[in-house]
Amino acid sequence: MYIFEFGFNVGKKLREKNANLDVMDGEILLKKFPDGEFYARVISNIENEDCVVVQSIYNSDEFLKAILILDAIKRSKAKSINLVIPYLTYMRQDKIFLKGEALSAEVILKNLNSYADKIFLINSHNQQFRKSRKFKYEGIEIYNMDAFSEIAKYFKNLKNPKVISPDEGALDTAKECGKILKCESNYLVKKRDRVTGKIVIEDKNLGVEGKDVLIADDIISSGGTMIEALKIIKKQNPASINLACVHGVFCDNENFLILKTLADELVATNSIPNKVAKIDLSELIAGELAENLIKK
Ligand code: R5P
Repeated sequence: MYIFEFGFNVGKKLREKNANLDVMDGEILLKKFPDGEFYARVISNIENEDCVVVQSIYNSDEFLKAILILDAIKRSKAKSINLVIPYLTYMRQDKIFLKGEALSAEVILKNLNSYADKIFLINSHNQQFRKSRKFKYEGIEIYNMDAFSEIAKYFKNLKNPKVISPDEGALDTAKECGKILKCESNYLVKKRDRVTGKIVIEDKNLGVEGKDVLIADDIISSGGTMIEALKIIKKQNPASINLACVHGVFCDNENFLILKTLADELVATNSIPNKVAKIDLSELIAGELAENLIKK
């Protein structure tokens, strides 16, 4: 099996798990021309080999890069292509909310599906995918891994923890974190105006006085949700406030600085390159591949 990975160490973790495993690092030449166009050429001989690509797709450029990598692998006659996408952009527009909109999630997935045999995602924001860990989408097996366990492990030394989800939708994941940290969890109720994008979080007593609060969310994009949640929790005299997300988009630098200043700790995983990506997902991905790909 050949593994082509960008920003992760999954091949090494897989070899550490099982020294007899035939996992080789795939060699690929990637270039960007002066006008911004990508070029991809597979160097390893992967004819009739199973291949794994581990690449986050966090913007339009990365999407195009991924398609070219997949095309190069397919044309090199790989036996199978398994795609691990720790962060897959455009998944939030997973249904038509307002008349006349494009269905972004479907557009992206259709393109990826035409190359991949299996797709592995991590805490994808697509509502359909959030409901189950494994399902079929247009004939392709999709696995949606959960990285909240990695967040909980990172915060294992909090003295008096309580996990808070900034909206009701992420309550289950907050509960999972709570189980690992052996503590209670609670949630805030958030509403967002679809047209203006404005977020309103209802004030609520969360029972966090004297607690080391961990506010955990699947994604921090503009940071607006976390700032609102933080403001409400700060008023309730916790011992500390720690902020964590799986996907650190941090598209608003001013908000990022506010979060970093006001919180005791702000961390994200490395699903997207960012300044607080202290939680490496390679081990989680290696475990999932060992379970669902290599065993079969
Ligand atoms: C919403 O359902 C998500 O779980 C996040 O809370 C949201 O996408 C974060 O977005 P932002 O950082 O822009 O408020």
